[in-house]
Amino acid sequence: METKLLSGALGAEIKGINLKDTSDKNIKKINDLLLEHKVIFFRDQIINAEEHKALAEKFGPLETHAYVKGLDDHPEIVRIIKAEDEQNQWGENWHSDVSYNAKPTKAVILKSIKIPPVGGDTCFSNMELAWETLDEEIKEKIKDKKAIHSSLGAEFFIESYKKMEGNKKRNYDEYSNEHPIVRTHPETGKKILFVNWTYTKEIIGMDKKESDEILKKIFEHQSRLELTCRFTWTENTVCIWDNRSVIHFAIADFYPGRGLGHERIMDRIAIEGDHPV
Ligand SMILES: [Fe+2]
Repeated sequence: METKLLSGALGAEIKGINLKDTSDKNIKKINDLLLEHKVIFFRDQIINAEEHKALAEKFGPLETHAYVKGLDDHPEIVRIIKAEDEQNQWGENWHSDVSYNAKPTKAVILKSIKIPPVGGDTCFSNMELAWETLDEEIKEKIKDKKAIHSSLGAEFFIESYKKMEGNKKRNYDEYSNEHPIVRTHPETGKKILFVNWTYTKEIIGMDKKESDEILKKIFEHQSRLELTCRFTWTENTVCIWDNRSVIHFAIADFYPGRGLGHERIMDRIAIEGDHPV
C-alpha cells in the first residue's frame, strides 16, 4: 500500500487497496486510513452501483437524501450532475453534508463518473485542526454552546440544477436541528468544530448580533487555506470523507472560454451518522 499526503492539513491518496474487497480486514484498513486522514482517495477503481453500495454498507446503514432524489434502481445513490452549460454545481460552498439533520451523515463515498478536462476540483478542510487553532477567546465563548443548523441553506440547491431532481417527499419544507458547536468524534474522541457556512444560522443563548459576528469569524477561520487540501479528479476515483470532521467545497470554476462546456457526474452514497455530542 502507498499513501500520498495531499497537504499538511488532511487528505491522502491511497494506492494498493482494492475497494471490491469488503472483508473485515480490508474495511478496517480503510477505516483506519479514513480516521487518520479524514478524506481519502482511490483512483482507477472500476466498481458498479452494487459494489459501491456493498462498500458503503460496511460503514453503516445507508441514508437517502432529504431533498434530492436517488436513482430509480438505487434510491441510496444520488447522481450529482452538472450540465455542460451550467456554471454552478451542487455543493459549491463550504458545508458538511446535511448538518441540519438530527443525525448528520457519518461519511460519504463519492465515485467520479465523468470529469471535465479542467475545473471542478473539491476542497476539504480539517475541523479537528480548525478547533485546535481557533482563537482562545472564541473557543471560550462557544465551547459549551449549541447552534441551529437549517435546511434552508439547501433549498435553492435542488431547483437550480437542471439535471438533478428533487425528492418530493419533504416538499422542500425547511426544518432545523441544534447541535453542539464543538462535538466529540465518536471513534477518535477528538474535539471537532461542527458548524458550517451553508447551514449553521445561529448560536443558541447569545444575542443575534454577537452570534453573527462570532459565526463570521469562525467561518473565515475554518476556510483558511492552511487547514485544507484540494483534489483534482480523474474518472473512476472513489473518495471517502468523514463528514463529522471535515467541511468541503465543490469548486464551480466553469467559466466561458475556460472550464465551461463539460458535463461533470458523480455518484454519491451517504452513511447514517449519530446525534452529535
Ligand atoms: Fe456536500
